[in-house]
Parts: sequence; C-alpha cells; structure tokens
Amino acid sequence: MIKAPRGTRDLLPPDTALWNFVEAAVRDVFRAYNFQEIRTPIFESTDLFARGVGEETDIVAKEMFTWSDGERFDEDALVREWISRGQAENRFFVESATQLNSYLRPLGIWLINHIPDRPEFVCFRAKAAPEAVDLLLKTRGEVKSAEFLQRYSSDAQYLQRFEIKLRIVIPSGTADSATWIDTHGVEVEQFQNRTPVFKSSQSLTLRPENTAGVVRAYIEHKLWDRGLNKLFYIGPQFRRERPQKGRYRQFYQIGAEVIGPASAGSESPARDAEILELLATLLDRLGVTGWTLELNSIGTPEDRVKFNEALRKALEPVVGKMCADCQRRALTNPLRVFDCKVPEDQPIIEKLPRISQFLGEASRAHFAEVQEILKSVEVPFTLNDRLVRGLDYYTRTAFEFTHGALGAQNAFLGGGRYDGLSEALGGPAAPGIGFAIGEDRLVMSLAESAESVVLKPDVYIAPLGADMNREAARLARELRRHDLVVDLGDESFRLKKSFEAADKIGARYILIVGEDEMKADAFALKHLASGEQQTIPRGELAKRISQSSSS
Ligand code: HAM
Repeated sequence: MIKAPRGTRDLLPPDTALWNFVEAAVRDVFRAYNFQEIRTPIFESTDLFARGVGEETDIVAKEMFTWSDGERFDEDALVREWISRGQAENRFFVESATQLNSYLRPLGIWLINHIPDRPEFVCFRAKAAPEAVDLLLKTRGEVKSAEFLQRYSSDAQYLQRFEIKLRIVIPSGTADSATWIDTHGVEVEQFQNRTPVFKSSQSLTLRPENTAGVVRAYIEHKLWDRGLNKLFYIGPQFRRERPQKGRYRQFYQIGAEVIGPASAGSESPARDAEILELLATLLDRLGVTGWTLELNSIGTPEDRVKFNEALRKALEPVVGKMCADCQRRALTNPLRVFDCKVPEDQPIIEKLPRISQFLGEASRAHFAEVQEILKSVEVPFTLNDRLVRGLDYYTRTAFEFTHGALGAQNAFLGGGRYDGLSEALGGPAAPGIGFAIGEDRLVMSLAESAESVVLKPDVYIAPLGADMNREAARLARELRRHDLVVDLGDESFRLKKSFEAADKIGARYILIVGEDEMKADAFALKHLASGEQQTIPRGELAKRISQSSSS
C-alpha cells in the first residue's frame, strides 16, 4: 500500500471544515485591517533562503527540501559548439525550415517535403560538392524516437544522389549511445557533460517559510511604488524535521507581512503594535484563550556587533563543553546558540549575556513605544530576553505566541521585524514586520470541534420508485437555487435505506419523491429530529425548508 510520505498527512472531512472555518475568520480579520492576499510560488531558488533566512539557521542548514532542476540542454550552446567544431568543414547554421530549404534547394535536395513540421531540424553542413550532407538534429536532451530517425534516414537515402549522414548529438549519459550506433548506423557525437551544451543547473527549494518569497516578490515587482504593502498569505511550507505531534514536514502557515519604504511608515513602532493587536483580535475571534505573547527586541546589526563580541567572549571558556552545533555557531553566528535545544547546554546558555543589555538608544526607544501602544490597546505580553527566533533576518522586535495546550511544540506563531532583508536580497531599503501562524497548531488549540462547524444539508431528497431520479434531480435543482444545501438519494434505495442515509449525513429534512407525490405535485417533508411530517405543495417547499433553518 502506498502511504502519504513521512511527515505529511491528508486533511479529511470533517476536519477540513474546521480549517475552512479558521481561514474564513482569518480572511475577515485581514480585511478589517486592510491586508491583501499575495500568493508566491511553493518553490524558489535555494539562494533566496540561504541569503534570506541564513546559512547557519537550522532551517537552511538541516531542513530544506532542495533539488537541482537538472541540467538543461542548452540548444544555443550546442549549435555554437557544433559549428565551432566543424568550422574547418564549413558548417552552416540555419534558423528555420524555410532557411534550410533555401540552402538545400540549390543542391537539388528538397528535404523539407520529407520532414514537414520538423523544427528539430536546425543545422546542416554542406560540402562544396553535395555528396555529403551532415545534419544536426536537435534532440532537446532526449534522443528522438528510433522510428523517427529510421524514417528520416530512409527518406534521405531515397534521394540516393547523396550520402546523407545523420549526426545525433546527445547529452552524454542520457541515453545508451552504443545501442544507437549499432542499431541505426547513426554516428553519435558525444558532448561533454555540463559544458558547453548544458546550462548549469539551478538549485531549487520547497519554501520552508514565506517571508523571503514575499520580499523577493516585493523587489521583483517594485512594490515600493505602492507605498506601504500589507500582505497576507495562507499556504503550505516544507521543512525536513523529525515528525511528531504538531510538527510536520508539510505544514501550513497563515502569515502577513507589512513592508515598504520608511517614508511610508514601515519602520514605525505603530506597525509592530498593529500586527500584535491584529493577532490578539484574531485569536479572540477564533475563541483561542490561554495564549501568551512573548516579546523581545534583538536590536539592529549595529547593536549586535558589541553583543556578538561579548557573546564570543562569554562562550570561549565554556564552548568546549557544549554540543557540536553550538561549537560551530560560536564561531559563525553566536546568536544562534540560543536556538540550542540540548538539555545539558541550557545551564550554560542561561548565563550568557542577553541582547537586551546591548540595545542602542534608538532600538530601546522603538521597543518601549511598541510596549506603550500594546498597553494602550490592552494586549497583554511578557518580555523574554532569551527569545531570538530561529531565522537570521530579524531585527529589533521579535515575538512568539505560545499555548500551554500544545505541549512541546508550544509556539504556534512567531514573527518580528526584518528591516534589512530587502537589502540583503539585493533590493532597496524596505523595513518590514510580519508573522506566521502554524495553522496545524492553531487548529489543534481550538475549542471548536469539526462537527460543530460542518454545514449539514438542509434536506435529503429520497426518490422512491422507477424513474424518480429525474424528478428528484429537478426538485434538487429548484431548491439549490434558493441557496439550500441539498443532497440526493437514489431511486434504487428502499425508503428505510434513504432514511438511514439522511440520518448519517445529518440532514434536517427528508423529502420523498414518489409517483403519488408527483401526481399531487405536493411532497412528504419530514423533519428528522422531531419526526413531524407534512405534505407541502411544490411551490412552497423552498420557503418552508429555509424558514425553519433560520428559526
Ligand atoms: P517560524 O517561527 O519559523 O517563523 O514559523 C512560524 C510558525 O510556523 C511556528 O510558530 C509554528 O507554529 C509553525 N511551524 C514551523 N515549523 C513547523 C512544522 N514543522 N510543523 C508545524 N508547524 C510548524 C516563520 O516562518 C517566519 N516566516 C514568520 C515571519 C513572518 N516572520 C516575519 N514574517
């Protein structure tokens, strides 16, 4: 049996109803705060994450799903190479079939007639005397079918006046060239791997998070022209983590980013506070209680120069006792030592200097103002000066929301400022702040049950007897036009089976469509919970069913 890959899972009904309920509420809240949706690709260039999220982070160092998109067959390079190798023999390159024809016609060859619509055919070499025509077939990285080649070479030989030599150029290693030579009498010219007929391959990565992609899009589409961008996204992210409850390899994030030029207010502490207040509102709206907002400022890169120095100094005498990762981090990016989860290292980390002691005046004032606004809008928070977040792009405000009910994976959302990210990715200065909620974890923390948010059918139509399916279909169509949720049985079901089916899907009513009902144009409508049954004329059905759904 083929199962879903490790760390992935199927979301099935009725759970999907809960996910939709969350996403609908989230969209409402984003609308109230004037955020608009952005959708970026699910995979991006690996560089984006290496430069954006940071080489030293766990995400980039250990958790990315990365692949090479393969060597692309570079047709232009192939043609250039072919021409240069054959310069002594006077090779030509033709761009189109028409041009090819114009070369061949003086030689008395009318090849195009034999290969209509064969754009693969781009190059040929003609000696001064037309005894040999050396053709280069573009193979687009794959060898043409034997059938095509055979047909083509026999067509060519059919002309008999010329010796036609087909030369197939195949990427080395992509096909069994020996077989080709043996079976088709075709001369195979192997080109070296990679150069020059291969474009260097591109490394791609399934997005482990969405902030880098949004900032990439900001730069690519010059979104600064729009001033302050308030964007949100909902979608899957991928990290190769050890799967456990609340931790998946494909998981879902609901996130938002506020980014723009500083002149549009992107740097203001008011943005930070608005984001945090939005989150508090969203959690309220979803009925999530018992959360804690943990808040810290991790300063600017300038603040961190002194901090890193102090951290390195403090680590020097103790780092030998720490885990291998920490020993590496101490050299490359000491702040990342705070990500360490190894229990034995924790007492050491506990004694390390904190960034809060190294904040410059501007960072301090910014952070103080964020806190003041939060107090004025009554969003509770606790300061946590160990919180550094696991991604390198953060500057100044950093935060996480935790929830006791989630156990070990208790951070169900996190975010912060990333004022230098756009520049790190080659864009203009564009301060920004954002967050991402782990949707899987958010759904786990809901008090709401999936059953309670599933939209149950208003009515189940039970066709009774031969040819009643078509009548039932008509009725269903009429009722659905009135926005009623209608499900349909089948004329092959006995009445008992229809009742069971209606019960199983939780329909409020069952409507019987039999021959007698059709004759009377009035139908037996039974309320399943009370057992009350009435005969209702066709024209009044929709009204009757919807009336009682709103009562
Ligand atoms: P993050 O803290 O790496 O931040 O992820 C945000 C949330 O995604 C986490 O709090 C957690 O709920 C969820 N999450 C992460 N990994 C997994 C997993 N393997 N399984 C289930 N849930 C997971 C970011 O991704 C940043 N891009 C947030 C941000 C946006 N910062 C600024 N803007």
